[in-house]
Amino acid sequence: MARPKVFVTRMIPRIGLDIISETADTEVWQDPMPPLYETLLEKVKGVNGLLCLITDKIDAYLMDAAGPSLKVISQMAVGFDNVDVSSATSRGILVGHTPGILTHTTADFTFTLLLAAARRVAEGDRYVKSGRWKTWDPTLLMGHDVYGATLGIVGFGRIGQEVSKRAVGFNMRILCYDHHSVEDAASKLCAEPCPLDELLAASDFVSLHVPMTPETYHLIGARELRVMKPTSILINASRGPVVDLEALHAALVSGEIAYAALDVTDPEPISDDDPLLILDNCLIVPHIASSSIATREKMAGMAADNLVAGLRGEALPHAANPELNYPQLS
Ligand code: GLV
Repeated sequence: MARPKVFVTRMIPRIGLDIISETADTEVWQDPMPPLYETLLEKVKGVNGLLCLITDKIDAYLMDAAGPSLKVISQMAVGFDNVDVSSATSRGILVGHTPGILTHTTADFTFTLLLAAARRVAEGDRYVKSGRWKTWDPTLLMGHDVYGATLGIVGFGRIGQEVSKRAVGFNMRILCYDHHSVEDAASKLCAEPCPLDELLAASDFVSLHVPMTPETYHLIGARELRVMKPTSILINASRGPVVDLEALHAALVSGEIAYAALDVTDPEPISDDDPLLILDNCLIVPHIASSSIATREKMAGMAADNLVAGLRGEALPHAANPELNYPQLS
């Protein structure tokens, strides 16, 4: 029987490619930059499986360009807002993603951002490397205490809950907001559920952990930033469009909030001339919250397992359209 055909949109950790190659004839996009949409349209023609990343726009047009052979789309990420899942479902295409395995790594990194922003680590590094460190200075780079401060967690799902566990170790008061009821999880984790505005007004640190949906687009905009304390710090390791970056820039310049630490921006990458790039009170890193060696390997392995299951007509271990996820053997 002919081996299935697969296109992988970037080099991923070897462990994932090895799993796929055992089952399928695999073409891997070698360039460090993602394929252009037009190129992707060509590459997917006639494939049975597609392994994609958050940088790839996977819409209905692309699915139709692939044709009826396309059985499974496997996204190497927990979030899949770049994939039109309902169009996939209506075409009978399974969509996989990688939940769970990056929760701890992302929660760790959220705390990395929180601590780095509070204690001005990036500014200190720039200060030393630009030759400005001349003496011990009693008022140099004074930051904000984390121990005992109030942390507001917006989005109390898997990652938000793990962030709250870390905050307990810093003796923080933890507030949480979620549009689902999270009373049980919150009470187990010493967190207090509260309305968004109350959380924003009371928190020293506000950390965002919501998925990207039409409801969460610009969830934090000019109004919400005004509600926050002038000493507060905003952390975003969710998705860039959750924060209105123009409003954030204005708030950081006017002192409506003290600092922001962003793992994600809108667009990604942030444009070279974005005014946030020259603000000392804005720390920006290139969407690396899940990027530990172990976790990226696990993500590649899980994405490969999802892909191979779909190629074999089996249920995916982790499907984004579970309503379709029954054994598909013909
Ligand atoms: C990364 O941002 C992911 O969704 O896995």
